[in-house]
Amino acid sequence: MSSETGVSAGLGTRLETEPGLAEGLARHRQEHLLRWWDELGEQGRGRLARQIEGIDFGELDDLIETLVRHEVVTSIEPDHIEPIEVSRLPTTDADRAERGRAAATGADMLSAGEVAVVIVAGGQGTRLGFDGPKGAFPIGPVSDRSLFQVHAEKVQSIGRRHGHAVPLYVMTSPDNHAATAAFWEAHENFGLEHVRLFPQGQMPAVDRGSGRVLLAGKSCLALSPDGHGGALAALAAPRPDGSPSYLDEMERAGTTTLFYFQVDNPLTQIADPAFLGRHREAGADVSFKVIEKQRPDERVGVVVTVDGRPDVIEYSDLPPELAERRRPDGRLALSAGSIATHVFELGFVRRLVEGGADLPYHRALKKVTYLADDGNVVKPNEPNAVKFEKFIFDSLRLARRYAIVEADRRLEFEPLKNATGSESPETVRARLSDLYAGWLEEGGVTVVRRADGLPAFPIEISPLYALDAEDLRDRVQPGLVADRPLLLS
Ligand code: UD1
Repeated sequence: MSSETGVSAGLGTRLETEPGLAEGLARHRQEHLLRWWDELGEQGRGRLARQIEGIDFGELDDLIETLVRHEVVTSIEPDHIEPIEVSRLPTTDADRAERGRAAATGADMLSAGEVAVVIVAGGQGTRLGFDGPKGAFPIGPVSDRSLFQVHAEKVQSIGRRHGHAVPLYVMTSPDNHAATAAFWEAHENFGLEHVRLFPQGQMPAVDRGSGRVLLAGKSCLALSPDGHGGALAALAAPRPDGSPSYLDEMERAGTTTLFYFQVDNPLTQIADPAFLGRHREAGADVSFKVIEKQRPDERVGVVVTVDGRPDVIEYSDLPPELAERRRPDGRLALSAGSIATHVFELGFVRRLVEGGADLPYHRALKKVTYLADDGNVVKPNEPNAVKFEKFIFDSLRLARRYAIVEADRRLEFEPLKNATGSESPETVRARLSDLYAGWLEEGGVTVVRRADGLPAFPIEISPLYALDAEDLRDRVQPGLVADRPLLLS
């Protein structure tokens, strides 16, 4: 990743001068990128040259060949796909004891300072239609605290509980980095000691017909984030000021394990000790939290085995025949729905990024506004371009060992994806209220609920006040009735 633009790793040849640039680009049949060079001032030329230098054109040629010109389709053969073994939620005393042991292992990891937390908060949040970084979205049912604040307060609370502050790494995108940094600064990092924000890499968008890199303007390429899978390379990249990478920083601080999740899910049980413990006990390189998928069309990737090897099939790639396959009891056969919450061994991340086994790119067909050869800006009505994105879950295929652990959907998963309808502010706030209401009820409080079972009034508990039901138990007065909006913070 280049220091200033966050573009993926360099060309190998420096192309500082126009002849150098032109020559290099001609080798890759991308010389049109300099079409407006003569019109540009020094600043524009510098910007364009830096963006071009940031692209690995050799790699891009391969991607254009395989994902644009001849789309190599990896066909999904239903007969080769089977459910994966999942470590289920406890139902018996023996299960609960086993989970308790795993949680003790995870708690030891946290107390020893072995765990860092990584939030991916890049991406463009197009579906939500929120004008700002998604993490800044006000989600607290009563207080309107942002997604970032909910996560940050959990990280702080976990550190306090285990006697060791947990370092937090937040991946932004070059588009939202400045706004995200300003947001964290304005909130004084929500009181956290160690927060690092780092932008993910970018990849150029190419015309789907010709494979030509698109220009967004006369002096800039049409660049877009390289997918959340870019987090691993971004963590391993040297920093803009030349200081060691964040992976190096973590290693020096004694971090062995990364807890990774997406900014959009405020129910994430950050650094869940039982999950960390299961990962450690399995000697896993990477671990996945999954929920039981309820409907064939639910928009979660499914964790499966393909010819006995673990893999994830993204919801958009899952053929209906497989999505609808059912077990004799009527439940979905391929039901291990990924909630995109993972634990990674730091050594595994290094092996992937530095050992040449990095994650593959996927193609995403999108509408991309571009500057045409005649100088007009074109806003296409149909997808005209291919973007390249890495998916974090492809790491599973590259792992020597892994653990797939079931999460309780009600307690752990309601992501903010859409402006209205499912997975929207309304449903997320309702689920948060429901979660906190459950904790209150465990503490002996009566919560007034509606006919559909959800709390009649919004309820919110700051993670700094209580991290879970157990934490809350000693702090509420049994016999209390929650019959109006309630905020504990
Ligand atoms: C994603 C997963 C899906 C999973 C679901 C759970 C993919 C391709 N699919 O679906 O398997 O079941 O979440 O909620 O990811 N992000 C970045 N940089 C990027 C792209 C995304 O940081 O370049 C972050 C976003 O901030 C967002 C998250 O990744 O929080 C999810 O991305 P999104 O595109 O919303 O994925 P989904 O389609 O919801």
